[in-house]
Amino acid sequence: MTQADSRVAHLPTTSYYCPSGKYDELWRRADEDPEGFWAEQALELDWFKRWDKVLDWKAPYARWFVGGKLNLSVQCLDRHMKTDVRNKVAFYWEGELGDSQVLTYGEMYRQVNNTAGALKRLGVKRGDRVAIYLPMIPALPVVMLACARIGAPFTVVFSAFSGQALADRVEDTGAKVIVTASGMHRRGKILPLKENAVEAAARCACVEKIVVVKHTHHQVEMDPNRDVWLSDILSGCDEYVAPEDMDSNDPLFILYTSGSTGKPKGILHGTGGYSLWIAKTMQWAFDTDAQTVWWCTADVGWITGHSYVVFAPMILGLTSVMYEGAPDYPALDRWWAIIAKYGVTAFYTSPTAIRMFMRHGEEWLSRHDLSCLKILGSVGEPINPEAWLWYYRNVGKERIGISDTWWQTETGGFMISPTPGIQMHALKPGSATKPMPGVVPAVVDADGKELPNGETGFIVIKKPWPGMLLDIYRNPDLYHKTYWSRFPGYYLPGDYCMKDQDNFLWLLGRADEVIKVAGHRISTAELESAIVGHSAVAEAAATSRPDEIKGEAIILFVTLRKGTPPSVEIKNELTRHLRATIGTLATPEEIFFVNLLPKTRSGKIMRRLLKAVATGAAVGDTTTLDDGASVDEAKAAFAELT
Ligand code: PRX
Repeated sequence: MTQADSRVAHLPTTSYYCPSGKYDELWRRADEDPEGFWAEQALELDWFKRWDKVLDWKAPYARWFVGGKLNLSVQCLDRHMKTDVRNKVAFYWEGELGDSQVLTYGEMYRQVNNTAGALKRLGVKRGDRVAIYLPMIPALPVVMLACARIGAPFTVVFSAFSGQALADRVEDTGAKVIVTASGMHRRGKILPLKENAVEAAARCACVEKIVVVKHTHHQVEMDPNRDVWLSDILSGCDEYVAPEDMDSNDPLFILYTSGSTGKPKGILHGTGGYSLWIAKTMQWAFDTDAQTVWWCTADVGWITGHSYVVFAPMILGLTSVMYEGAPDYPALDRWWAIIAKYGVTAFYTSPTAIRMFMRHGEEWLSRHDLSCLKILGSVGEPINPEAWLWYYRNVGKERIGISDTWWQTETGGFMISPTPGIQMHALKPGSATKPMPGVVPAVVDADGKELPNGETGFIVIKKPWPGMLLDIYRNPDLYHKTYWSRFPGYYLPGDYCMKDQDNFLWLLGRADEVIKVAGHRISTAELESAIVGHSAVAEAAATSRPDEIKGEAIILFVTLRKGTPPSVEIKNELTRHLRATIGTLATPEEIFFVNLLPKTRSGKIMRRLLKAVATGAAVGDTTTLDDGASVDEAKAAFAELT
């Protein structure tokens, strides 16, 4: 029984099932006539020019609304200027220190136009790439939308990534400008974002300017030839910058994520299909309306933040909450206090956060009135039924549903989720339930044969959907290989899945070398290539083991070079090295020193064995191993340290 199967076996028998009406009809229409269905939906966006063709599908490339012209900043802002939404709150922003700002759509429009003007004066032209390395402050959505307005594809780099990780991404995009902040607040400390941006600029010849947002008030060194304060390059008076007429399939942003290679890959999204997908899926999964007060706790540095902190809520003209800091700072009820303070009606977070709160008990919740909530959501990793039920009972008080949304950076928006917005309210704790209209999934075995209900296999998506990635930036070969080569014609997400007897889908974790630590995606190859970059390391293998809170925790097996004996000091040094190379999310739970890594005779590391050793499971067949002793050694190292 795999780890995934054992989760299913432990499910409670409770089923919150009820039949649906509109959902079935929409799903069928989207399946039977995708072009007609999506053309009708696309009328909800503002187009400069209507498309000539709804879908051009030449596997593996889907191009939606071919010939259509639009601009994302117009969807999020300009069109609201003609309605009541103009004076509606776009963001209630709260800083970790308790400071706050209220930004209306009108104010966002003003700031986006001014920032777009400033970037243009700095020399950013349509097609130039901009790297954005900002904390969760209002400037982050403002700069993203300003880039979209002037047609400059942007890449947002999560603020917990190190200077070196930022440099890798900046270099791959060839960004000319990095927009950063003086620093950020995290659990009472100031983190030096500007310094990391300088480190990245020093490594990347493409960077001409660093634009700095004044956020923390500590001393920051500025290089007069390269660095400018954003406040200094704004014109001083309000300006209007005409939005570029972008083609529906022009690049909008590049977002790096981990796959099977040592280097993160740049997932490329466009405007037309992507905007429509995120807006429709948000309405469907969260039944949003003009009164919705939305709070998605994800960092904008991830796809969840792009699609559902910034763009979809703004396209829909919703009021959102944006919070800068940590969930437990200064105390464990910070999030609940924020929900009550702003009257949040729809709350969307991760299983890791839920499990963290679960561990600390319900009393933190009871300090606040959460009766404003009308719907809950979960994302980023499988939610175990226990956490689902805790969330349902203690946060939702058993009166509201949970939309467990399964999707990926590559999919742009939700793929599988309850859709109460179109009357699909059926829930089962731990299942993401049903595919969105337009999503046609199947569960297949290793040969691509569809499996009967009840059996676990790989999830594939059989048809293109509007939010589908355009490509991997500057790496079409990797795009083909990663998603389309194993089961030709089908998109391969890389997750295990099981469809139950009611046709509910259970997403059961990654089937590849990707680790999900607190919902953050990181690959074993990325960790290994980072750690062997340390001069004391000869070889390394990364794996994970289940973690009660974070879902998975990183475990490393390392062989040291001659002359460096294993010690606590070198272990700490390697942890520091990983954090400096990738960022804090790469912090290993444990590093084991071994003399040999278990390898096949052809020299491949047998990760399966290391995983078994790290999790204490049966090691299984070792007949293809080169040297059986290396398994025993890995086991002994593990036993000694646990
Ligand atoms: O393994 C799945 C897991 O997160 C992966 C995608 O990660 P990323 O591109 O970083 O996007 C995260 C936010 C969408 C998926 O391949 N995943 C995401 N949501 C769920 C999930 N696994 C189970 N249930 C979910 N709701």
